[in-house]
Amino acid sequence: MKEIRTKNMILLSTGREACPGSPFDREAAANALRFHESLPMYGRTRLVSLKSAAEELGVKAIFLKDESTRFGLKAFKGLGGSYAVFRVLCGRLGLDPHKAVYSDFLTEENRQKCADYVFATATDGNHGKGVAWAAKLFGCKAYVFLPDGSAEARRKAIEDAGAQEAVICSGLNYDKTVQHARRMAEENGWTLVQDTSWEGYEQIPQWIVEGYLTMGAEICEQLGKMSPTHVFLQAGVGAMAGGILGYLADVCADREPVFTIVEPTEAACLYESAKTEDGSIRSIEGDPVTIMAGLNCGTPCSVIWPTIRDRAGFYCKCADEVTENAMQMLARFPEEECVTSGESGAVTFGVAAEILRDARLREEMGIDRESVILLISTEGDTDPAGYRRVVNG
Ligand SMILES: Cc1ncc(COP(=O)(O)O)c(C=O)c1O
Repeated sequence: MKEIRTKNMILLSTGREACPGSPFDREAAANALRFHESLPMYGRTRLVSLKSAAEELGVKAIFLKDESTRFGLKAFKGLGGSYAVFRVLCGRLGLDPHKAVYSDFLTEENRQKCADYVFATATDGNHGKGVAWAAKLFGCKAYVFLPDGSAEARRKAIEDAGAQEAVICSGLNYDKTVQHARRMAEENGWTLVQDTSWEGYEQIPQWIVEGYLTMGAEICEQLGKMSPTHVFLQAGVGAMAGGILGYLADVCADREPVFTIVEPTEAACLYESAKTEDGSIRSIEGDPVTIMAGLNCGTPCSVIWPTIRDRAGFYCKCADEVTENAMQMLARFPEEECVTSGESGAVTFGVAAEILRDARLREEMGIDRESVILLISTEGDTDPAGYRRVVNG
């Protein structure tokens, strides 16, 4: 293992050869996509070719999946929440999850069965909004808990999306808020739909990850014959990154891309876990502060960690400045390449741009003029005031 430092980021090279195959494969993705396509508000998000950036930064192409328009929720997270709620309700109503579609839940009888069902979750914003929205979609209720310091705009957006109640938990960081939501669910008989897992709580997080694979399926269709050589994925608990990485490892088995996991310096729990000798999970203690709210998580998701650990070649932890620069750049690109990208969304573009400008890092990662870079801008301006502050300088 080798750590390479620059002014505002550290790159960890694991020297690991990616192992082929993955549990998050094309079959799982096809079922998630089939379900999402049955939702009346489903629409594929765009894959933007950042042509001017690719030319300036000396690579063949940079593709960026723009999740700012997903389901009108401004982030990809509704994909996981809705798929998990769907799978839970299929079990309750006795529907076949590989055949059922959204309209099956709209019969009078099924509407009534769903009406008294309550979901709960903890969130730093986007996941809770997705669960609240999904619960409402199926006629259920949802209670959502946010860590101390969460923006009021994020709390309100969750209630606007359909939560029965969204509460900021004073004195609790993200991990403690998850424990609180778990306790509340146990005490009240609610179903916890959490986007991270622990021993004994694995099935629902697994479904959430499978829900994210819809993004992967869309990307591959949009890329056509083009294949990414380098994929940068941002991580909070790593569920999204691991799902997409696993899916691409399955689909691109013969030409597996180089995967880099990107986190904020203060909350780099996957980075720290990658450094452990026995490959076990490491948590970050304390109350990390970063503007990348969606990535501010202290413990990796256990169901996804082995998928990442056995395949990611690089980990990168970076300062807020990296995502701020990227948000500004993406907002100022010419019309068809311009992207509204929030704090957790833009960071991979920021990291990729810094790497592409640095000959030493390019060489370390095997990047040349023929490289094809794939990024996901996972959110738009989910905190509009924060977004304006950064983009307007
Ligand atoms: C916008 C955004 N991007 C990325 C992530 C990271 O996802 P995960 O926690 O699955 O790593 C989150 C998580 O909330 C998010 O909100």
